[in-house]
Amino acid sequence: FGYVNYLVEKNRGEILSTMLDGMQRLEYRGYDSAGIAIDGDKYNEVRLFKEVGKVSALRKLIDASELDTTKTFLSHVGIAHTRWATHGQPSRINAHPHRSDPDNEFVIVHNGIITNYRELKALLTSKGFVFETETDTECIAKLCKYVYDMNKHRNLDFNELAKLILVELQGAYGLLLKSVHYPNEVIGTRKGSPLLIGVKTEKKLKVDFVDVEFPDFTEMTIDAGDSSAASSNLLGVPVAGSDLRRSQSRAFVSEDGMPVPAEFFFASDPSAVVEHTKKVLYLEDDDIAHIYDGELHIHRVRREEGQPTFRSIQTLEMELNEIMKGNFDHFMQKEIFEQPESVVNTMRGRIDFEKKTVTLGGLSAYLNTIRRCRRIIMIACGTSYHSCMATRAIFEELTEIPIAVELASDFLDRKSPVFRDDTCVFVSQSGETADTMLALQYCIERGALTVGIVNSVGSSISRQTDCGVHINAGPEIGVASTKAYTSQYVALTMMALSLSDDRISMRSRRHAIIDGLSQISQQIEEVLSLNGRIKEMAETDLINQKSLLLLGRGYQHATALEGALKIKEISYMHSEGVLAGELKHGVLALVDEDLPIIVLATHDSLFPKVMSSVEQVIARSGNPILICNKNETSLGKFSKTYRTLEVPATVDCLQGLLNVIPLQLMSYWLAVKKGFDVDFPRNLAKAVTVE
Ligand code: G6P
Repeated sequence: FGYVNYLVEKNRGEILSTMLDGMQRLEYRGYDSAGIAIDGDKYNEVRLFKEVGKVSALRKLIDASELDTTKTFLSHVGIAHTRWATHGQPSRINAHPHRSDPDNEFVIVHNGIITNYRELKALLTSKGFVFETETDTECIAKLCKYVYDMNKHRNLDFNELAKLILVELQGAYGLLLKSVHYPNEVIGTRKGSPLLIGVKTEKKLKVDFVDVEFPDFTEMTIDAGDSSAASSNLLGVPVAGSDLRRSQSRAFVSEDGMPVPAEFFFASDPSAVVEHTKKVLYLEDDDIAHIYDGELHIHRVRREEGQPTFRSIQTLEMELNEIMKGNFDHFMQKEIFEQPESVVNTMRGRIDFEKKTVTLGGLSAYLNTIRRCRRIIMIACGTSYHSCMATRAIFEELTEIPIAVELASDFLDRKSPVFRDDTCVFVSQSGETADTMLALQYCIERGALTVGIVNSVGSSISRQTDCGVHINAGPEIGVASTKAYTSQYVALTMMALSLSDDRISMRSRRHAIIDGLSQISQQIEEVLSLNGRIKEMAETDLINQKSLLLLGRGYQHATALEGALKIKEISYMHSEGVLAGELKHGVLALVDEDLPIIVLATHDSLFPKVMSSVEQVIARSGNPILICNKNETSLGKFSKTYRTLEVPATVDCLQGLLNVIPLQLMSYWLAVKKGFDVDFPRNLAKAVTVE
């Protein structure tokens, strides 16, 4: 997170609170340590504060320091970071910002991984730099000082210096850079890790050579001129030419040429800026954003032909209350209970329940290409991978196109063959997961059609795919994904419906699914009423268990995997999702009277086979808990003997949307009862932007 106030007077307390609040909003992305760089009391002094743990710990550290919070700044640049350790333990020293030297000449915060840091570290060590941390990031700060000192006679602008440094870095980064040599200036740049800039100003501004009238950015009228800015018909920032003539990249100056008071917010995702401004600019890979004198300039690391010359400013649709907990104790709990609404948002404007049609605007131009493709490869990680597993069968059935489902990392490890006539579908809540992104690059290079099924609007995957569907689940903050799963499930099902709407033979099946979707929100609501039972079950039956098995087959295999992942992620209990058909091939050896086993036994064509697995478990003195349909008559003796959680029945391919909910609730209550931090499970991060 970065915060720049230019000609807007703020005292240090206000600056710190803006920064700490911004960090707290991003904390779900990583939270093992936190740090901040702000100006000190002396001229040209930069102060660093770092602490292990969450942002609240850093807040305490700063509160307890001798900092004068009343000191005012007319202009100021602060940068901050919450970390999820990749290189080096979560410790105070390894927390960001990192510095070039004990005088903090250059300080830096960084997401991503610098893969050539060993080489850079060796070079800089040979030049006399002394490294104080185990991180890859520190080499960037030291490299800044080294290159700056070498080029002192050239009086480089900050962005020119940044260019010289960035060409030396390999790997991925989203980074912010602050320096005593460039007071009140900041560099923000990205490659492979997300970074956006929120812009807030009250005055009428001029952008480049184009006059723009927009009091408080609400009205945007552009008087078309020769500038590239005019052609996009949007407010935005032109990208500077490689000759670095500043006039080419002027933005945010007032009509009369006078400096304009402005505030800028850098963040990895929009949830941290939405309370300040809804106007955001998403940086592209290799963009260097340079803010000085209240102006935002965008340069490129390298000169390239044929690249877009303009970055538009977009208006966020997200509301602040969407990222607040409301009456819930945890984000995860709020998100579980939001599902009746979020699945409706996924379908809104896309399904006509009367005419029984599905229209996905983001795919319409590509539907025929997809229908003719040689196969569809679905690629994702974690929960998103499970949503692909959950919908594979309905894709196969409705489209009769071969479907492969791949974990992004494994797909890349195998260098799996991909062809121009393949369709590759990338499913991701964040749209930033590094493994999925790399798989996307891999498929783009091989000429396949790429489709994104993404929640975060403006994220890398949604921008870099040829076409796609936003799942519109709203911001998901809890690290354990819940509502994004059910919305991905619905979006993928809609995609399968849409691809098959030219097939007469599938008509009645399609209609049954669309009817099923029309009831799904209300049925989810009904399942949520099991909350009390599940809480009790977690507390009395499960809390002291070491391990838990989940059995399912067919459509419910994915539910078993997803349920097990939820339980592992936040309650730290070992749990395994097992394909019921595989039970007898090994897992049965684990079964005894103590091991809790949850069986997904809702009634579909595989029900008799699932029940035979239940028999096998019972024959080994197992004591299963059955998730079954309400009023299920075929349970016979089991319904009396064993515990059941009853859910309403829907079409077989949608049943997983209902069955997963008791498991989400179970993991939630297990974690709460064990006293764990539900929204911030240890060692995990919401968006894993490293490979
Ligand atoms: C991380 C998160 C998971 C998520 C996975 C994929 O591991 O902790 O909850 O399912 O990444 O993330 P994506 O944003 O690509 O869906």
